Amino acid sequence: MCGIVGYIGDKNAATILIEGLRSLEYRGYDSAGIAIVDRRKRLFLLKKAGKLKALSDCLINRHVSGHLGIGHTRWATHGEPNEANAHPHYGNTRDFLIVHNGIIENHHELKQQLRKDGHRFSSQTDTEVAAHLVEKFYKGDLLKAVCRAIGCLKGSFALGVICMHEPDVLVAARKDSPLIIGLGKGENFIASDVPAILSRTRDIIYLDNNEIARISKDEVKVFDAKCREIQKKKVRINWNTDSAEKAGFAHFMIKEIEEQPQVIGRILTHRIKSKQVVFENLNLSRAQLKNITDIQIVACGTAYHAGLCGKYILEKMLRIPINVDTSSEFRYREQIITKGRTLIIPVSQSGETADTLASLRAAKEKGAKILSLCNVVGSSIARESDGVIYTLAGPEISVASTKAYTAQLMTFYLLGLYLAGIKKTIADKTVLNYLSKMKKIPALMRDILKNQKRVKKVAHEYVHRYHYRLAEQFKFLEDEIVQFQDPVKALEFAEKWARLSHSAYGRRFGDFPFLYLGRNVNYPSALEGALKLKEITYISAEGYAAGEMKHGPIALIDEFPLVVCIATKSAVYEKMLSNIREIKARKGTVLSIATRGDKEIQKKEYSNYVLEIPEIDEFFSPLLVALPLQMLAYHIAVGLNCDVDQPRNLAKSVTVE
Ligand code: F6R
Repeated sequence: MCGIVGYIGDKNAATILIEGLRSLEYRGYDSAGIAIVDRRKRLFLLKKAGKLKALSDCLINRHVSGHLGIGHTRWATHGEPNEANAHPHYGNTRDFLIVHNGIIENHHELKQQLRKDGHRFSSQTDTEVAAHLVEKFYKGDLLKAVCRAIGCLKGSFALGVICMHEPDVLVAARKDSPLIIGLGKGENFIASDVPAILSRTRDIIYLDNNEIARISKDEVKVFDAKCREIQKKKVRINWNTDSAEKAGFAHFMIKEIEEQPQVIGRILTHRIKSKQVVFENLNLSRAQLKNITDIQIVACGTAYHAGLCGKYILEKMLRIPINVDTSSEFRYREQIITKGRTLIIPVSQSGETADTLASLRAAKEKGAKILSLCNVVGSSIARESDGVIYTLAGPEISVASTKAYTAQLMTFYLLGLYLAGIKKTIADKTVLNYLSKMKKIPALMRDILKNQKRVKKVAHEYVHRYHYRLAEQFKFLEDEIVQFQDPVKALEFAEKWARLSHSAYGRRFGDFPFLYLGRNVNYPSALEGALKLKEITYISAEGYAAGEMKHGPIALIDEFPLVVCIATKSAVYEKMLSNIREIKARKGTVLSIATRGDKEIQKKEYSNYVLEIPEIDEFFSPLLVALPLQMLAYHIAVGLNCDVDQPRNLAKSVTVE
């Protein structure tokens, strides 16, 4: 979602803002803008639709100097992604400029009110009202004006505000959207996320809800909603920029896929000490955990799939009911929570997902204890939970989540063991057996990654099949055109077909959907495989519990869809084989994810393509199955020339509802 950067100091603000916005590109956006002020109170404002390059290209050969500035990448919510709607926004005059992440829910009413007072609006955004409000309330003190303005806002916001009358001040405020302050020497920064300023400083302050900061180049003061100064803790970031750089890989996604053995190894080293699982920030006593009788997991997207797998894991280890819900549903339904008994586990890579945060708050209000699984240290979900288990995946930049997912899975296995130890639901011998199996996983992952050639080959064959079909369509078009004697009609026909073909191409693989089938602990793997493919290739893909096939999806089967069947060795292996037979009986095309050495599944009557994983206890197999599915999606996306790391319409961190 939208990215914010702000700078005040002695250096060239434009360079710093562009550099910061570049590091926030991963969040997803469709337009960008900057506003720079120099010491002679001159304003430079530039906004562009499209990618950041459109903005930075305009700065080439143009000397833009200025020591104060705000920059923004916008992910459109209100109004299309054009120049007028891009941030920064200003009021009636260009004296007050503002960048915003979030949604101002009462912007209609505010606009009507402001119009009556003579304010004129030049965009369709919700944000613009905030600039007009600051302008309206300004009486010589920007901090106070922002404080009054945010008092009128309903919804969520992270704001960066500058004003031509006070060129030595940058004001920042937040409610329900992330914002950090970077502390430098003779310079300070604001940003939506750490990577934007990490090359400049490692010392940061996390702004909390309803806090507002007055920032000059030498000083940062933070205030509460009533403008009373408060003391904030400085936090030192100890990861480095390498993790936020591609390091020679073509895309962040493949870099992050390849990092998985290292991530899982790190989690195991960090969490297993003397054959015991340890967590440091639980803030829940053993007695509190022992009393838990049911668990509710809430999450979105990939994290939801990890949560679904977490249900299988925890139910097997703890033998208590585990529910999983998408956060957007959980937050609005009747939440059944027994005080002191129900444990809520929000799962989130970013720790900022609006629906997951809202679910956490709703459950907390009903007296539930919250133990979150988060990747980003210090994120809102981590801070608002009673306890947090960091998933230790390191910064994940690619929009499509890969290493954060397997890190969440591994954390669920460890949490299961930890809670089982407290509740005495697994024998000590089984715990040791599990631990020794888990320790082998990084090596098994490495083994899969070594065999990437095979995945590439399958992906390329499939891409070729698609292009061939498209070429056939065009051939048909040519044949039809020559049948027309009337050149005008021929042209009309050609145009119509070009449009149709174009939209078919735009939809990619319209004729070649994917179906992912899995059972038991690998049912969530099927959902995740389908999500990975659709988000980065735009191919329509569905994940199903294989047992559900007969209840609908089997109607899709002919030779065109590719059915990815997770048929690794397990208690449900025979059931998967029988699903595959049913698909093949209908001329279906099957790609099997199978256990190495399984000769049966290699046979033509079962599989057109096979991707193997090494032998593993089926209980832990989702950790390995994820890898070929991620790589398949990646290599198809590359073959189709898709924007792998920043797929259209998607945002890394979904900070609005
Ligand atoms: C898919 C993906 C999204 C996120 C979802 C939740 O690859 O990344 O589906 O998993 O938006 O995000 P977090 O985990 O940050 O709460």
